[in-house]
Amino acid sequence: MKKIAVVFGTRPEAIKMAPVIRALKASSTLQPVVIATAQHREMLDQVMDVFDIGSDYDLDLMRPDQTLSGITSRLITSLDDVLRDVKPSATLVQGDTTTVLAASLVSFYNHIPVGHVEAGLRTRDLRNPFPEEMNRVVTGRLAKWHFAPTQASAQNLLDEGVSSDTVFMTGNTVIDALLEARRHASKMPCHVADGRRLLLVTTHRRENFGEPLKRICSAVLELLARHDSLDIMFPVHPNPNVSVVVHSLLGNHPRVVLCKPLDYLSFIAAMEAAHIIISDSGGVQEEAPALGKPVLVLRDETERPEAVSSGVAALVGTETARIVESVERLLLDRSEYARMAKGASPYGDGLSAKRIVAILEDSLLGYRSSMNSVPPLARTALQL
Ligand code: UD1
Ligand code: UDP
Repeated sequence: MKKIAVVFGTRPEAIKMAPVIRALKASSTLQPVVIATAQHREMLDQVMDVFDIGSDYDLDLMRPDQTLSGITSRLITSLDDVLRDVKPSATLVQGDTTTVLAASLVSFYNHIPVGHVEAGLRTRDLRNPFPEEMNRVVTGRLAKWHFAPTQASAQNLLDEGVSSDTVFMTGNTVIDALLEARRHASKMPCHVADGRRLLLVTTHRRENFGEPLKRICSAVLELLARHDSLDIMFPVHPNPNVSVVVHSLLGNHPRVVLCKPLDYLSFIAAMEAAHIIISDSGGVQEEAPALGKPVLVLRDETERPEAVSSGVAALVGTETARIVESVERLLLDRSEYARMAKGASPYGDGLSAKRIVAILEDSLLGYRSSMNSVPPLARTALQL
């Protein structure tokens, strides 16, 4: 069996790696070695519990209010020890976090080839999202296999001169995870009373710390003042730059539920119960369209243009007036709402992890030991 180091550290990486770990376990030639850096702690543990992922190594690296340099240096030192110990045939990383950058760099230093899951996302602005755009550009430079979720992300890599032999359009494993979890999420539904409408809010991006986050909270208060039928659910990211501001500005409103981060099944149930979602999250931008929920993205640009161009997501930035106006349009205009709530995801078909493992088997062994008939990614959007 060839060992594949699967490295992840934060909530979204674990959600999107869970299907890959499952597919590796089903392979008769490849074997996952699960390395949790725990760049996140409680939010990572929640995902590992839901997907029943056990770790072979848990580096327990999170510190309260950690700095980018602090977490990066701890990651590099610890991952170097682990990867020298494991000596894998390849390392798999997912997305654009500091864990991804460090694991790719340490693998490169140790001559271990890297497979990048969710490759090729770009805004072409190194400061936005910060530092994630830099993380994925550098990882893209170091990787041997690029598992691109969409045609546009594959094209971004080709435009940067990445060899087409190394770029594979697999779809995004987030849809594999969503389909798997949704089967169980229905067992714990989130109820909304008749006549009430739920607005689900999440935010955590560094670009939105400070004034933008305050403007987002002002928009929430303004919407509540104008619409009696509206309730807010806001699972608050534990980063103190987010939680302190959100609790101080929204904590006392009777129609706002501020809660700790929800486990994945409960969060899916909340998305299904929501009328509208407003969020700066990458993963939520991919999941909401699959669930037929309009998502207004609290950012000025996105590396996920597909949902915006197909009309199921909209970029609304962080100005209070624009957020209020965009939510109100959906609350008041039924045909506009129906247009955005089509329920079509351009991000995957649920077979992405199997494709990734089949490609690794081909490349590392010269043949596929299992799952040898994974169909190519369909071009049509998934309808749930
Ligand atoms: C990180 C990623 C970001 C990703 C996000 C997903 C980087 C630079 N950022 O941002 O790309 O979109 O995760 O959520 O890699 N904390 C806890 N408990 C937890 C998790 C976080 O208390 O389970 C608090 C800690 O105080 C921690 C802080 O949040 O120091 C920041 O965590 P960090 O991973 O550095 O940044 P995120 O903002 O979570
Ligand atoms: N999520 C969750 N619980 C929550 C909020 C989000 O499980 O309370 C999930 C969500 O469904 C998505 C992922 O976390 O799959 C997104 O993580 P996050 O927004 O932290 O990071 P990003 O995707 O922006 O990197």
